[in-house]
Amino acid sequence: MSKLQQTGMRCLATFWVFCQSFPAVLGDLPLVVVRSERSWEAARAHCRKHYVDLAVADTEAEYDLLLRETDGESGSLWIGLQNSAPGGWRWVDKHELSYDRWYRESRGPRCGSVDMGLAGDRKLLPRLCEEHHAFVCQGASPPDKVEVGAVGTDFVSLRWDRPAFMESVPHSFNISYTSSSGSSSSFISPSNSTLITSLQPGEQYTLWISTVTETVQSLPACVTVTTHLEAPVGVRIDSIYSCVSVSWADPGWGSHTAQCNISYSSLYGHHSGFILTPPFCSHMTITGLLPQTEYMLNITAVNQSGASSLPVTVFLFTSAPAVTVVAMVLRGLQCVFLGLFFWLLCHFHWKRNYDVERTPVETTEEMFFTPQEV
Ligand SMILES: *[C@@H]1O[C@H](CO)[C@@H](O)[C@H](O)[C@H]1NC(C)=O
Ligand SMILES: *[C@@H]1O[C@H](CO)[C@@H](O)[C@H](O)[C@H]1NC(C)=O
Ligand SMILES: *[C@@H]1O[C@H](CO)[C@@H](O)[C@H](O)[C@H]1NC(C)=O
Ligand SMILES: *[C@@H]1O[C@H](CO)[C@@H](O)[C@H](O)[C@H]1NC(C)=O
Ligand SMILES: *[C@@H]1O[C@H](CO)[C@@H](O)[C@H](O)[C@H]1NC(C)=O
Repeated sequence: MSKLQQTGMRCLATFWVFCQSFPAVLGDLPLVVVRSERSWEAARAHCRKHYVDLAVADTEAEYDLLLRETDGESGSLWIGLQNSAPGGWRWVDKHELSYDRWYRESRGPRCGSVDMGLAGDRKLLPRLCEEHHAFVCQGASPPDKVEVGAVGTDFVSLRWDRPAFMESVPHSFNISYTSSSGSSSSFISPSNSTLITSLQPGEQYTLWISTVTETVQSLPACVTVTTHLEAPVGVRIDSIYSCVSVSWADPGWGSHTAQCNISYSSLYGHHSGFILTPPFCSHMTITGLLPQTEYMLNITAVNQSGASSLPVTVFLFTSAPAVTVVAMVLRGLQCVFLGLFFWLLCHFHWKRNYDVERTPVETTEEMFFTPQEV
């Protein structure tokens, strides 16, 4: 599972806590109490006309939520529960009643209510369907299971399941998002997937998706996504024996203090590792590679805040060990000097950038260093 999906799931898991802090949805509750008194059938017709249907609490958690949302009401409230022979007690979404919170059960043809006058949490009470009572309607339900599809430097694709309970009600989706730098936007999507473009690279976006009908908007489901950083450009490799120098250029990371993660692995996998460069560095020397071996190298821009680029992959073949002792010593020395040179360059470059208002300086040509073969 990628880091991105994990972030997305964490956000979904804290859905009630997190999404309700979105200011614009206050008041768009999933349940609506209508205080005018009607028969069960008339109440259902009213809910279907103005909301979605009579309230459904398929699980005990939803039943508890129903009690919380109707706390403070009085008398009996019709809910979307009915016992029509031969089926037994069923919700209007056709699911069977799967738990027992009856105050008193009845096997006859009755309709279900929650009676607010009863103490405790066993408030389900059967009543004759012709009686007139206030009722609880189900507002729009949020989309189920939001998934992040592809992520790029400036786009994110999302898909989600339509809420099962809303099949019979015409609906579309309101997608809104804000970025870590404060920009925000929203639009309506009639389908259950969308592609959001024109985003900024390396930014964290929080996206809210709520279901909208003609009259109501659901609470949102949300995910957070970090767009990719731009990948390093102009990657070049120079290899001398087991010592490899890598250089690249900044594609415009701007204020993102990108570091590069250079990971390498020999093609048969027995030798691998990675090096994390300091910020603003555009060179690195890798030593200790096996001679005459084909390696795969990935260069990925990373930012500790969680953004990363797609990897730039290069393949290289390290050369044979030197034949003579003199050549071996020379190559060894060259590698040591090269390493030292790049180390100094990076640290000088990094320090200077931090000193000068911590802004990255354009990579200039003279910093590219092409080692000569012995
Ligand atoms: C979501 O949309 C896809 C097509 O875009 C469709 O195949 C799928 O059944 C839809 N899922 C739901 C739950 O509506
Ligand atoms: C989507 O919902 C938000 C929050 O309720 C609202 O501010 C925004 O105007 C809606 N967008 C559209 C296009 O309706
Ligand atoms: C990551 O990038 C942000 C700018 O988007 C920057 O403020 C932050 O310092 C960077 N973090 C690291 C560890 O480089
Ligand atoms: C660098 O990349 C390697 C291979 O993908 C990964 O195992 C490692 O955790 C990364 N290191 C950092 C600091 O991102
Ligand atoms: C380089 O990245 C690719 C995916 O883009 C991955 O399959 C491969 O294992 C990575 N190699 C190394 C050495 O990190």
